Amino acid sequence: MLQRKRINIGIIGFGTVGSGTAKILINNKKLIEERTGIDFNLKKIADLDIKRDRGIKLPVDVLTTDAYEIINDPEIDIVIELIGGIHPAKNFIIESIRKKKHVITANKALIATEGNEIFEEAEANNVHLGFEASVAGGIPIIKVLREGLVANNILAVYGIINGTSNYILTKMTNEKVGFSEALKEAQRLGYAEADPTFDVEGIDSAHKLTILSSLSFGIPFLYNDVYKEGITKVTAMDIEFAMELGYKIKLLAILKASNDEIEMRVHPTMVPNDYLISKVDGVFNAIYVEGDAVGSTLYYGRGAGDMPTGSAVVADVVDIGKRIVTDQKRRVFTLKRSSSFKIRKIQDIESKYYFRFSAIDKPGVLSKISGILGNYNISIASVIQKGRRIGGAVPLVVLTHRATERDVIEAIKQIDQLPVVAGESLYLRVEGEEV
Ligand code: HSE
Repeated sequence: MLQRKRINIGIIGFGTVGSGTAKILINNKKLIEERTGIDFNLKKIADLDIKRDRGIKLPVDVLTTDAYEIINDPEIDIVIELIGGIHPAKNFIIESIRKKKHVITANKALIATEGNEIFEEAEANNVHLGFEASVAGGIPIIKVLREGLVANNILAVYGIINGTSNYILTKMTNEKVGFSEALKEAQRLGYAEADPTFDVEGIDSAHKLTILSSLSFGIPFLYNDVYKEGITKVTAMDIEFAMELGYKIKLLAILKASNDEIEMRVHPTMVPNDYLISKVDGVFNAIYVEGDAVGSTLYYGRGAGDMPTGSAVVADVVDIGKRIVTDQKRRVFTLKRSSSFKIRKIQDIESKYYFRFSAIDKPGVLSKISGILGNYNISIASVIQKGRRIGGAVPLVVLTHRATERDVIEAIKQIDQLPVVAGESLYLRVEGEEV
């Protein structure tokens, strides 16, 4: 029989995730206690707004407007930071750690950009730091990488880890609407981050990818080394061409490891229709992980929202609670495992590509373009020209075999200078085997 123990919890931030977390801690308290033998007691919640009704019944003295009532309370064992952003979240976390409190956070931007310092602090103070909720909401991907796949060398990770951009791309695909209309709808439904640039420019995905890269490869958090491109340049026309060619366009966060080189990139990607991840639609997230022992694995679920994210936060609460009760000394997951690695620059990656040129509709144009591609060792797999506008510009789409990005950049530069090309060309990276 497990020893019964009470663990006191304080939540800083009573917004969407804070409310979901409180709801779960209260509504599922008995269930969690039965499963663990631990009484998880929500002692305090701090937020600047303690008047708004969140639909949760709480004793009056639980709410406070002062975060320090939690940080300075010697009875509180676990502090949950759910205010988001860098300041004052970082200070609250550091101060809690220094008071020897275990900390849980859903703050992906903070972990990705300041995580190295925060982890060092946690290690020095011998406290646990939980961040399951920081990536892909309710999908327990951190636990998968830390525990479930601990026996594997991770070879690749492909994730749809921003629900908002996936919602936008799905709406553009299914309803043939433009980017702005789809974004407006995502905002109306409350999916987008406070600043939607984080979602649509790949920043939120890059934060999450930084965290996944640390867990996958044992490297520090290197947010500035993640290559990122958003979805704002993808048009309804590209989505239609992609469909015609047998692909969906998804904002993928990609990690790949080979020969001690690691690729870390976020960009719109053409994914073959027969890949499971191409069928992940709407606000759902999915992460494909390939390990050398396990092979391919796929995780799917809700990447945002009060209850799914709250589910991940409470999983950390239980995990840490169990370690406190059993007095496990090894508290912080070591990130600095691998010392010899290099981040591959985007110019050095190899991929298949989709090009959309705006080409003047007259004889000989394709041969000019293909000539330049040939000069850069870029081999064409298929070509589509849509419509007929003799002497005017029409979209000319080219799908390539594998090529080096450096060559692609140079070739596009030259093609864009051709008098028969009107306007800037677009290129997207294409996943899938060579056929
Ligand atoms: N804005 C994020 C998303 C929320 O759309 O996925 C969860 O991190």
